[in-house]
Amino acid sequence: MRAIHVHAYGGPEALRLEEAPRPEPQAGEVLMRVHAVGVLPVEWKIRQGLFRSFQPVTFPYISGSAFAGVVKSVGAGVTAFAPEQAVFGRSATGAYAEYVTAAVETLALKPDTLSFDEAASISGGATTAWTALFDNARVQAGQRVLIHGAAGGVGSFAVQFARWKGAQVIGTASTANLEFVRSLGAETVIDYTTVPFEQVARDVDVVLDTLGGETLRRSMQVVRPGGVLVSLIEPPSQEEAQALGIRAIKNTATQPYPSTSLLQTIASLIAAGEIRVTLAQVFPLEEASRAHELSQTGHGRGRIVLHIAD
Ligand SMILES: NC(=O)c1ccc[n+]([C@@H]2O[C@H](COP(=O)([O-])OP(=O)(O)OC[C@H]3O[C@@H](n4cnc5c(N)ncnc54)[C@H](OP(=O)(O)O)[C@@H]3O)[C@@H](O)[C@H]2O)c1
Repeated sequence: MRAIHVHAYGGPEALRLEEAPRPEPQAGEVLMRVHAVGVLPVEWKIRQGLFRSFQPVTFPYISGSAFAGVVKSVGAGVTAFAPEQAVFGRSATGAYAEYVTAAVETLALKPDTLSFDEAASISGGATTAWTALFDNARVQAGQRVLIHGAAGGVGSFAVQFARWKGAQVIGTASTANLEFVRSLGAETVIDYTTVPFEQVARDVDVVLDTLGGETLRRSMQVVRPGGVLVSLIEPPSQEEAQALGIRAIKNTATQPYPSTSLLQTIASLIAAGEIRVTLAQVFPLEEASRAHELSQTGHGRGRIVLHIAD
């Protein structure tokens, strides 16, 4: 099969299209033909070596995890899926490839109304937003929720989920994405390029931090006492959280992640038209390095996807 290998840490050019052996499904696993794979920022961070101290890789490896495809065969003991079913979810073995294996626990059936490209944007985007908002922050109807990076692969789902739950959403985005974030259901949108967000967002119940660093530090100040900040990027200072009387945590997820039931819940909301998917740009597999270049800008609207088969 064709797959994108990384042989050494480096820039986008480190992604190389090469032949690779087709994986075999082990017990409890499913083999799929991959039709589309989401490009997650974590993938360029790993490729650059930014995570080498705490998440080292063995070279060569195949990048990618969030995929949608069609079941080709199942390993021993698998009864939940059968050949020719369209599915989506997460693989631990590298999904920038024509075939991939995944554990049954991290797969779900793809609704017919979702394209493969759309379904590939759910894991790592929608699943992260859902878990951070509802499992970690326990967002409730009527709460005020500040979502940073509201136009992105995670943020574009987070805005819609918080709104769907009945929360009031404040989103941050650059000028070009303000209308887009409003169209997702944010009541207030702050242009972070012209207005410090703390001038508009104060005493919020929940902050979803997708940026870390200075944005995280400044965000702690806008949470009301008793409120919650969840960062996708780094553990917030516990001393500061205590002094402010807030709960501030790095996001966590229970295993298996994302579970079949979480994937199904999200896919049903999308199929019902409650939540919509936005694709930033779609590239063919051989242009994976261009997709990483785009992801590395840190700007954009929705999820970048590699389209591998129709
Ligand atoms: N820990 C986890 O479990 C986990 C899971 C998923 C993602 N993440 C991390 O979370 C981050 C976001 O992921 P993603 O997939 O949403 O990335 P993405 O699709 O690249 O989106 C990033 C968004 O951030 C916005 N942005 C950039 N600078 C900003 C600023 N100063 N203030 C507000 N918004 C700003 C951009 O909007 P504009 O174009 O308008 O600037 C863009 O829409 C990444 O660093 C990723 O690695 C962590």
